[in-house]
Amino acid sequence: MVEFDTVYDRRNTNCSKWDSITDTYGEDGLLPLWIADMDFKANPPVLEALEQTAKQGILGYSPAPNSLYEAIQRWQKRRHDYSVNKEAILFNSGVVPSLSLAIQAYTEPGDAILIHDPVYPPFAKVVEQNNRRLIRNQLLIEQEHFVMALEEMEKQIVAENVRLFILCNPHNPGGRVWTKSELEAFGQLCAKYDVLVISDEIHQDLIFAPHVFTTFANVHPSFKDFSITLTAATKTFNLAGIKNSMIFIENPDLRKKFIAAQERNFQNEINIFGYVGTEAAYQHGDNWLEELLVYLTENIDTVSTFLQTELPKVKMMRPEGTYLIWLDFSSLGLTDAQLQKQLIHKGKVVLNPGISFGPNGTQHMRLNVACPKETLIEGLRRIKYSFE
Ligand SMILES: Cc1ncc(COP(=O)(O)O)c(C=O)c1O
Repeated sequence: MVEFDTVYDRRNTNCSKWDSITDTYGEDGLLPLWIADMDFKANPPVLEALEQTAKQGILGYSPAPNSLYEAIQRWQKRRHDYSVNKEAILFNSGVVPSLSLAIQAYTEPGDAILIHDPVYPPFAKVVEQNNRRLIRNQLLIEQEHFVMALEEMEKQIVAENVRLFILCNPHNPGGRVWTKSELEAFGQLCAKYDVLVISDEIHQDLIFAPHVFTTFANVHPSFKDFSITLTAATKTFNLAGIKNSMIFIENPDLRKKFIAAQERNFQNEINIFGYVGTEAAYQHGDNWLEELLVYLTENIDTVSTFLQTELPKVKMMRPEGTYLIWLDFSSLGLTDAQLQKQLIHKGKVVLNPGISFGPNGTQHMRLNVACPKETLIEGLRRIKYSFE
């Protein structure tokens, strides 16, 4: 059994989640339930593999070993029924850096790039910082879940001459695990207008049954031709600091262009701990992950019960995947600034402001439940107190 209940004091460990918020908000004693990392220790075999590497004492340049490719291929096949070819697998220091490379590889300055609204904030930043045109497609809400607005998307593709779509699969912040048929309809639309799809699948392993994750490239054999997949072991196994991610590109022409962008940016070498941690995680991670998913489900239930009984005005979108919960505060009638002020300065609890995920995120907050129950319950108590 993994001890997910253990509370570790992460303060003064130079971690973004706990240590940066005092300076950001000018407050002491804040409880962080924001950035997407977990307050759990990594799986012991991963830590042992990293220790063994450090003990070698010589940490020179190192290429990706064959055993790593095999571990990735086995994981993708076993967990996602995706047979990825070895030559399709590339590495980079992170999914976000790969988004930037993909934009540079496949589009020109001024080209239109479509993203959902709301969605993980770096999608918008990476488009804008590369001087491409950002177009946002608002997600709709049906039965308390986000669904894609395909009709509007088609109009936007035509009107703006969209070249590329950055898809978040599964969706952060809404926790939607897009179904195969949703992805199929979305993909057919992209194929019809020659829109390339960058599918960010970093949350692919954090899926709650009965929901099933589908790799975009695996929906239909032709989808590999016009898509690339970005993923990593770092989100699943709480290893964000080792900075390692994968890019799967089956189409040789797209792969060639991506490699050229990597070489232009000198982004084709990864740190040794990234390789070692990723391989160990995929090699030894199944049981740890299963236990994590059970623990996260309990935490999501805790939030659901708490809100229903203690704070019924705040509505949650129950995640089908990820450890993130999208909370709707709109019935409180507060502005985004007021909402943030009350949570931070009255409740002393830090969530991600919904508005940072796009205009459609107004009056929402994103809650991270990947923490021991004790921490979560204290956080919920603080959220409630913020509005008393
Ligand atoms: C959808 C999504 N993509 C990418 C990342 C970050 O990836 P990386 O640290 O590999 O750049 C996150 C982190 O939360 C995320 O939620």
